[in-house]
Parts: sequence; structure tokens; C-alpha cells
Amino acid sequence: MQTTLTDSAKEAADILNSGGVVAFPTETVYGLGAGIDNPEAIRQLFHAKGRPGDNPLIVHIYSLEQLADVADEINPSARVLIERFFPGPLTLVLKKNQLVPYSVTAGLETVGVRCPANLLAREFLSHCSSPVAAPSANLSGLPSATSWETVFEDLQGKINGVLRGKPSSIGLESTIVDCSGPMPILLRAGAITLEQLQAVLPEIALNIVTNEAAPPKSPGLKYPHYAPKASLILVHANDRITIGPHSAYIGISSPPEEFSLAKICPNLEEYGRELFSFFRHCDAEGINVIYCELPTNTGIGRAIRDRLIRASGSH
Ligand code: TXA
Ligand code: MG
Repeated sequence: MQTTLTDSAKEAADILNSGGVVAFPTETVYGLGAGIDNPEAIRQLFHAKGRPGDNPLIVHIYSLEQLADVADEINPSARVLIERFFPGPLTLVLKKNQLVPYSVTAGLETVGVRCPANLLAREFLSHCSSPVAAPSANLSGLPSATSWETVFEDLQGKINGVLRGKPSSIGLESTIVDCSGPMPILLRAGAITLEQLQAVLPEIALNIVTNEAAPPKSPGLKYPHYAPKASLILVHANDRITIGPHSAYIGISSPPEEFSLAKICPNLEEYGRELFSFFRHCDAEGINVIYCELPTNTGIGRAIRDRLIRASGSH
């Protein structure tokens, strides 16, 4: 299959509208899109990523009017979040309506909905003839792609097109809040922080797994994620570390040892933006071990911690 690279949102949408699978930029990470009304394209999308069929996809819309095509019931907590944070790096889990096929929701009665803020994403979505189902545009299990070049590396020859935009400005996947039940629940931390959510919805709960045997609330959370080939060692700012050969470091504090490859970020936003591309860079450089500073569980630190813990396989 030939993968068309384009800078035109309209051309990318035309490819999707004729049944293709097309990657596009968003402010969180790049997405891999297929029309929700095209079962064959959805099937190809799962196949291209190597994604397990029981992991549901987020549906992307460009305007609030399109919400009615996707979700059936928008309760008061969902309304508050939509008003405050749409468009942006937030996904809401809502009761799905009958236009959304079970192949998109992996059999669930709920659907994840997101309206990205990125203007090229919105222009692309506005030219698409239906809402667009899109997971992150990386091979399943690898770090999410935050640039079109990375998408191309992973998926060249497996998808129909890539809409080339700028590198993702946030670099971490969207915050996910489940608003389909009586109580809003934070399912995945992201750039919209728990503190920001609590400011408008004080009753929001954390997704604490109390019964391991129960089906996971967000099916994707049970799969290995974001992992580079190198092993990760999670460290704190003042830890003493003795490094071996082919080691790298990323964090916001200066490491106590001299690394040949190190990224010291001026703040947590930059840490989040650079994390996945640093993982991939380390793999390309043949790094064996990446030392990653574990931020505290506040602000966007919560999302970085979550990705680091899951990427290290230590959850
Ligand atoms: O920032 C993002 O969210 C990016 C961009 C492209 O929008 N997308 C993304 O998709 O990260 P993905 O497929 O890599 O992660 C989506 C997560 C998965 O963990 C999935 O299980 C969960 O969202 N999810 C999707 N629909 C759900 C639903 N109805 N109920 C619970 N979790 C759901
Ligand atoms: Mg993903």
C-alpha cells in the first residue's frame, strides 16, 4: 500500500472519505483516523496498528453540534466539562448513540469523544463526512507518535495517508473522564489536570481498581504501553545512581552523574512534550537503560508519572 504524505487537510479528508485510514496531528499526539461509518476502514485501522480488538477507539469531532451524532445522553457533569474544556486535550466517555458501531467501542455501550483544539485537526475533521475514530498513530505498545515523521516510521505502507502538521504541542495523550455513570471518574491523567477538573467538578473520583477480576473501566489500561526497547529506571531528584554503558537520562533536575545522552527539561510541560520522542531517540541510538525522573503527583506531573510507571512495566 502506498502511504500519501500531504500538507492539505482537504486531501487527507478525501482519502479518509473514500475509505482510507489517515493519520493526522492533534495537540496531544498524532491520531490514526477512520470514518466511524466505514467498518472495513475500522478493521484496517486495528490491523495496521496491531491493536487488540477489545480496546475501544476515541471518536473525534470538530464541533459541538457533531456531539449529537455520537453521544446519546449528556449529563450535568459532562456539560460542565464540555463548557470548560472543549475543544482541547480532554476525552469524555458518554453513553453512545446507535450511529456509533460496536467495532469502534469494542462492544461497550459507551463512547470516548474528543474535540481537539489543534486547528489543522479541526480543519481535517470538518472535511470528513462522518466523525472519525482514532487511536494514537503508533504501532501498538510503542510510545505514541508526536510528529508526522514518527507516524511514518511506524506505519509507512500500512495506512493510506499522513496529514503532516507540526509536532504535538502537549506530547501526552488526552485526559479521559468517564461521565457515563452517576459519578465522574478520571480514567487517564493528561494535560487537563486533576486539579483543573476538581475546580469545576469537586466530586470527581479517581479510577482506583478495587476488584482485579472486574472488567477494566478503560480497556486500554490493561495493555503494555508507551514502552521503548530500552529498560526504564525511575529515579527521584536526589537519588544516587551508578550508571552503566549506553545509559540516558530525562528529567527536570540535573542528574548526579554525567550521561552521554541527557535531556534536562526546564519544566514539566517540556518534560511531557519531549518524553515519547526522547524514548524513540534513545532506541535509535542503541541506549539500553533510560533513567527517568519521577515527578510528584500534582499538575501535569500526574500524567508523566502515569506514563513512566506504565512504560517501565512496574504497575
Ligand atoms: O490524545 C488522545 O487521546 C489521542 C488522540 C489521537 O486523540 N488518542 C489516544 O487514543 O490516545 P488511544 O486509543 O491510544 O487511547 C484511548 C484510550 C484507551 O485506553 C481506550 O481503552 C480508552 O481510551 N477508551 C476509549 N473508549 C473508551 C470507552 N468507551 N470507555 C472507556 N475507555 C475508553
Ligand atoms: Mg495509544
